[in-house]
Amino acid sequence: MDTYRAIVTKRDTRVYDGRPIPEEVLTRILNAGRMAGSAKAAQPVRLIVVREQARKEALAACGRFTPHVPAAAAVVALVLVPEADQPPGQFAIFRGPFDAGRAAQNIMLAAWEEGITSCPASTHDNDGAAKVLGLPPGHVVANLIALGYPGGADPVTGNRPRMALDGYAHFETWPA
Ligand SMILES: Cc1cc2nc3c(=O)[nH]c(=O)nc-3n(C[C@H](O)[C@H](O)[C@H](O)COP(=O)(O)O)c2cc1C
Repeated sequence: MDTYRAIVTKRDTRVYDGRPIPEEVLTRILNAGRMAGSAKAAQPVRLIVVREQARKEALAACGRFTPHVPAAAAVVALVLVPEADQPPGQFAIFRGPFDAGRAAQNIMLAAWEEGITSCPASTHDNDGAAKVLGLPPGHVVANLIALGYPGGADPVTGNRPRMALDGYAHFETWPA
């Protein structure tokens, strides 16, 4: 699948067939996240892969729209580390959410190329999620990504079509 096709066909999908993700495929997916750039190359993002059923369920309990999380083959938690854990001379994580988003999209597109679908899942109880993952103080879960082989029609995907390009992209200035 070429890059453009992967981008335009990828839809967030919450139904998985239960098949595990082979280790070499998972490694490619995680590597795609690792290669995402970050502001000032601060690299504030770390990943935690969760496959244990009880831990997936505990993470799902930290979000409000997360019924798809326990059925995922793997859940990738994008963790933002505090400034002190970043390379010397780098600065705070104020660009962190953007950096995490870049890594997340890399992960989801690399997965899609492998035939693995995905859907982000937000944690509303961030302290709870940090506890489930055993995060040190100051580390924050930016978001979760549920990954799995497609298992059927998604109840949500397609209900929220994208806006037309002429309302989305403008040239030179905001339209009068
Ligand atoms: C930052 C972020 C957080 C999201 N959190 C959730 C979530 O908690 N639960 C969920 O079902 N979908 C979540 N989504 C998925 C969105 O609902 C999805 O991107 C949107 O519906 C478009 O989906 P589509 O690509 O299938 O059209 C999240 C997406 C983003 C970008």
